[in-house]
Parts: sequence; structure tokens; C-alpha cells
Amino acid sequence: MKVKHIASAVLVAAFAVACGGPKTAPVEEMTLKDAVGDKFLIGTALNVNQVAGRDTNATNIVKTQFSAIVPENCMKMEEVQPEEGKFTFEDADAFVKFGEENGLTMTGHCLIWHSQCPEWFCVDKNGKNVTPEVLKQRMKTHITTVVQHFKGKLKGWDVVNEAIIEDGSYRKSKFYEILGEEFIPLAFQYAHEADSTIELYYNDYGMDNPGRRDGVVKLIRSLKEKGLRIDAVGMQGHMGMDYPKIEDFEKSMLAFANEGVKVMITEWDMSALPTASRTANISDTVAFKKALNPYPDALPDSVSQAWNARMKQFFDLFEKHADIVDRVTAWGVTDGDSWKNGFPIRGRKDYPLLFDRDYQPKAWVKEVIEEAKNAETPSAE
Ligand code: G3I
Repeated sequence: MKVKHIASAVLVAAFAVACGGPKTAPVEEMTLKDAVGDKFLIGTALNVNQVAGRDTNATNIVKTQFSAIVPENCMKMEEVQPEEGKFTFEDADAFVKFGEENGLTMTGHCLIWHSQCPEWFCVDKNGKNVTPEVLKQRMKTHITTVVQHFKGKLKGWDVVNEAIIEDGSYRKSKFYEILGEEFIPLAFQYAHEADSTIELYYNDYGMDNPGRRDGVVKLIRSLKEKGLRIDAVGMQGHMGMDYPKIEDFEKSMLAFANEGVKVMITEWDMSALPTASRTANISDTVAFKKALNPYPDALPDSVSQAWNARMKQFFDLFEKHADIVDRVTAWGVTDGDSWKNGFPIRGRKDYPLLFDRDYQPKAWVKEVIEEAKNAETPSAE
């Protein structure tokens, strides 16, 4: 257990026992967040239906099973500043209200990303790339306005999302075209200037990939060499049944932690369907083929067992490295909420998350809770 938690856990436990209360939740009512305890935050992404209170079955799960939340879409650039100078925070404020009312730790996602970036952001009225000075100002205005709007409410921000590609080089986004590598340190600088107390993260997918791993390690070093704050790296954790190799994922976790940052699994899901593409780059879609949607009614027991075993293997890995893991967040509440039902192929039925379409925990989640219950229950002898 993390040193910083031992003292508080001992104090809480002593106080609770002194008051005659249970050290943790009563064993029979134990939930996933109770089972995880203070090893790391266990979170999920919320969609706008859940944020708006239109999916109470899902939000009841969030309140009881999770300790952290991230907005799936409502804090993204095109959502909060759809037109230059016009900021809209209605959904994002509802997200924060839900989090505050339920004592959930919140993360902002995401300040700078090449996708879901409003069309006006990097070009002038004629569609030509703006000058570096104009883009810097637009980034500073966006980041400052958004970070200050939520000041004191969030634990941290995904400052830059998906800027490094598989070979470790920079994605040739408009931000890179206009500002080169500088757009990333600038984004971290602006975020820190807007709120010096908030944690700052770099977030990306396919982080098991050696090229991207090395590119992100270089990025962390360069930010630190510039004296900029970076608290953690978000490993999105979009997985399939045949990728990533768990040893490659672990190697990346350790490589990032070795640079003096925490590791977070930020968008964890595991497709139970045949892998059609390994990217999470939203524009890389694949044409529908029936063979790629083999379980339109339900997952066969054999596939379900293999999926649960593989998810538990990764969860055990995260617990093994709880000293460097700050948060594990699922990218959605139930299978029906998952982006994987529509990506990389529209119209598929996938089973990638911790709760099923009947709002029930998957087998491996129940196993984690049972293991924690057994650890809590003193042995008979
Ligand atoms: O809000 C509009 C709605 O008004 C409209 O009727 C509807 C149909 O066109 O589209 C809605 O917007 C969609 C949005 O999700 C909200 O549902 C966008 O079209 C759709 O592209 C968007 O997809 C999101 C995707 O990012 C694209 O940015 C997914 O929900 C979201 O899960 C996914 O999440 C990303 C992370 O932010 C970053 N890492 C990769 C991950 C998967 O791409």
C-alpha cells in the first residue's frame, strides 16, 4: 500500500474501530471501490445522458462502484468552445455537479487534441493555417478559460491527447504543422499558469508499442527539462483479446514510472470481438463485415470466460503496481455505452466494459470483490 495512504488508513481504521464502526464497508455490501480501497482510484467515463440524469441505472452503478469519473465528451474542445470566444459549459458543469454531489474524484478530458477540435481553431476565415502567434493565443485563451472555469473542482487534466504515433514521432496534426513540437510544452505551460495546483497529464493509446513508449519517455524528459509540470501519463488501455501483450504493457508502465511520473489507465475497455484494427484514432474506421460481428445476441460462454480471465490478468497487473498506478478508469459504465459498439466498425455489438447491458457486474469484477471480502473476513481458526 502507498506510504502516503498508510497513515490515513491507520487513522481512519483506528477511528472507525474506536467508534465501533467497520474498518471498511460491511463485507456483505462490499462494492468494487471498497474492494480496490486506496490502492488506486477506480473510475469510469460518463456520457451526456448519464450527466443529464437520463440514465439512472448507470449513475447508480457509478455512485456505488466507482471512486472517480471522467467526461467522455462534454469537456472536449468542440464541446466547450464550438465557436471562437463562445464557451458553453452546460453539460460539463452538470458533470462536475454530479461528481461533487457524490464525492467522486474528477479528471478533465481533454484540453488539446487533434480530434473533436473545432474547425475554426487552427485555420483562418479562408481555411488557411493560422500563424504560430495566432494559434498560441488561441491555445492560451482556450486552456486558460477552461482550466480556470473548473478551478478547485478537478484533480487533474488530460492536457494533450494522442500526439505521438506508433514510431515515436509526432502526429502531423495542425498543432504540429503550425507550431512543431513546441505545442505540447506550451499547452502544459498554459495549463499550469491557469491553475498551479492542478495535476497535468499526457494521455495516449497503444502505449505498449515500443516506438510510442520511447516517444512518450522522451516527451516526459523534455517537459521536465523545461521545468514544466507533468504529474502522470495516461495509458488509455483500449484492448482486444489479442492485444496488447501484457508484458509489453507492463514494460511501458515501468518505463513511464521510471521517469518520475505516475501511471493511469485512463480509458480501459477490452473488445470481446475479432480485432479489426488496433488504433483508437477515431478517423480510422473499418467496413462492416458480418464475420466481425459474430455475437449479435450474446457472448458465448467460452468467449466470456476468456474475456473475464484476460481482464482479471490486467487488473492483477494494475494491483501489482499499485505503488505507481494512481487511477484505473473504464471508458464507459455498461457494454451498451461503449464507443466500441460503433468503432472501428459501426453497428457491432461488443462486450468491453465492467458492467453488462443489464447493469450487472462482469464475472471478473465479482471475483475481485469476493477476493477482497475473503481478505476482510477473519479466518475461522
Ligand atoms: O453530440 C453529437 C450528437 O448531437 C449527434 O446527434 C451525434 C450523431 O452525429 O453525434 C454526437 O457526437 C458524437 C460524440 O461522440 C458524442 O456522442 C460524435 O459524433 C462522435 O464522434 C463522438 O465519439 C467519441 C470519440 O471519442 C470521438 O471523439 C466517443 O463517444 C468517445 O468515446 C471517444 O473517446 C476517445 C477519447 O476521447 C480519446 N481516446 C480515444 C477515445 C476513442 O476514440
